Amino acid sequence: MVEIKGLTKSFQQTQGQRLVVLDDLSLSLQEGDQVAIVGESGSGKSTLLHLIAGLDKADAGEIFVDQISIFSMSPSDQARWRRKNLGIVFQFYHLLPELNLLENVMLPLMLLNYPNEQAKDMALELLGRFGLKNRAYDPVYGLSGGEMQRVAILRAVVHRPRIILADEPTGNLDLSMQDRVMEFLIDLCKEMTITLITVTHSRHIAGMFKRAFVLEGGRLVEG
Ligand SMILES: Nc1ncnc2c1ncn2[C@@H]1O[C@H](COP(=O)(O)OP(=O)(O)O)[C@@H](O)[C@H]1O
Ligand SMILES: [Mg+2]
Repeated sequence: MVEIKGLTKSFQQTQGQRLVVLDDLSLSLQEGDQVAIVGESGSGKSTLLHLIAGLDKADAGEIFVDQISIFSMSPSDQARWRRKNLGIVFQFYHLLPELNLLENVMLPLMLLNYPNEQAKDMALELLGRFGLKNRAYDPVYGLSGGEMQRVAILRAVVHRPRIILADEPTGNLDLSMQDRVMEFLIDLCKEMTITLITVTHSRHIAGMFKRAFVLEGGRLVEG
């Protein structure tokens, strides 16, 4: 359901030459697949996720999701497609501090014009399943890093997207929290049959996935 073919992306450097970050990269994923892409800092992991999300343009190549070509959509179609089909998990959570837990989790549903009551019920149900119901109306600033990332993960899955893109999702957590938060994300995506693409610099995190690729020299090598 995700087909990436010949993806190439370079950036203009200040010194004048172009830096080729992704070089004829290909990847093929089935619905519900869960993969890790491991690469050193600067290897192009975030660039790859931005391209899959349609947030940047490639020099060459194609990305199809459910047979739809991401690059050939208009910007407004892309934005609509993204709201419906994608969930994104960031290293630094990106929760909205002026909203409480419930409002943060409801956000994707509100953007998809769900009726307020229905959105609230869905978000509360999800928070309740993970022991956060009695904190639904609390501000997010009192939460630990692990709790914040759990709430951010619930926000990413609440609308049951087709794909979750996770960019160093445990990169800001204590070692003791990393595995638990990663398992939380993996298990939720499995239960909801959401395709999960996690990029990380950590071989340990990549080792939690049945399928892992190394991003090196602008290409993916499985193993
Ligand atoms: N908008 C940009 N303009 C110029 N160079 C960029 C831009 N975005 C990323 N790069 C460069 O591309 C390379 C890959 O970046 P990135 O995808 O963020 O790597 P990673 O996420 O693996 O750490 C880096 O060398 C980075 O400096
Ligand atoms: Mg990055």
